[in-house]
Amino acid sequence: MKSPDFQPVSAVAHPNIAFIKYWGNRDQELRLPCNSSLSMNLSGLETCTTVRFDPLLHQDHFLLSGEVVKGAALERVSRFLDHIRSLAKLNVYAHIESQSNFPTGAGIASSASAFAALAMAASHAIGLFLDEKDLSRLARKGSGSASRSIPDGFVEWQAGTGDADSYAFSIAPAEHWDLVDLICLIDSSHKVVGSTGGHALAGTSPLQSVRLSHLQQRLEKCRQAILRKDFDQFAEVVEEDSNLMHAVMRTSSPPLIYWLAETEIILWNVLAWRKEGIPACCTVDAGPNVHVLVLGDHADKLQARLSELPGVQRIFRASPGPGASLI
Ligand code: DP6
Repeated sequence: MKSPDFQPVSAVAHPNIAFIKYWGNRDQELRLPCNSSLSMNLSGLETCTTVRFDPLLHQDHFLLSGEVVKGAALERVSRFLDHIRSLAKLNVYAHIESQSNFPTGAGIASSASAFAALAMAASHAIGLFLDEKDLSRLARKGSGSASRSIPDGFVEWQAGTGDADSYAFSIAPAEHWDLVDLICLIDSSHKVVGSTGGHALAGTSPLQSVRLSHLQQRLEKCRQAILRKDFDQFAEVVEEDSNLMHAVMRTSSPPLIYWLAETEIILWNVLAWRKEGIPACCTVDAGPNVHVLVLGDHADKLQARLSELPGVQRIFRASPGPGASLI
């Protein structure tokens, strides 16, 4: 029988910043999270990925920014493509070429845009035409936060009860709210446990159950704040949720301490500036860099102030972004 004729397919996806964080899995393999989360896609930052399946290959071949990738990173991608091969019932390997326009080692969630772009490009390239929900479920298996980079704008990932209903959907389009994320890069050389290892430790903290106990209230408060564009309520719940996640990280065993002194300095200053009337708040992922969220009209002034703070090496600026798409 003649093997199918595979064409290359390219897709683009953006990273996202979580306002209500995903931390800890019920099922590590399927990436079924302990809790629902809420995020915003980041326009301006993007990963572009091209996939071509090739019946002549004996294993997947992965180029990241022009460099051949082997070892654990290739295995993670191959294991992810195995899900797609099994859905398509085709045992064929692929050429994957990917690049991002932001530094992937710098603590911006690059796995989210990477697996969202890969899910979209690879599923089309193998001849599967999944709807948004199934694409989000698929991307989730590569990286939990990637499920949230599939839909547009402001996105909720419902934890669900199992694989079938754990997916993300848009709660408001990117144009809904003029919010800016000023991503302050501080020490990007700081090596710590990555998010995948971190999720596995979440359950060792006595505070994880405390964090989860009021998760639904925070989720609802954050969703309403976004829908009503209520910045004060938004700032309160976003900072509370980030601080709770870092409390869990710090009290897990072994402890995960991601913040540096410069992280704290930004947090203190933004709090003080908010008291002066600047609508800004902070959230921090699994690294020392700080995402400062601010209403668009105040972004220029705030960016200038942040760039004066000690240790701020670079500031990336992003607005609410679209979901993943084919190129
Ligand atoms: C702190 O989605 O990067 O950024 O599923 O293992 O790839 P994996 O983890 P990942 O975890 C993100 C953790 C976080 C919070 C968040 O984005 O919700």
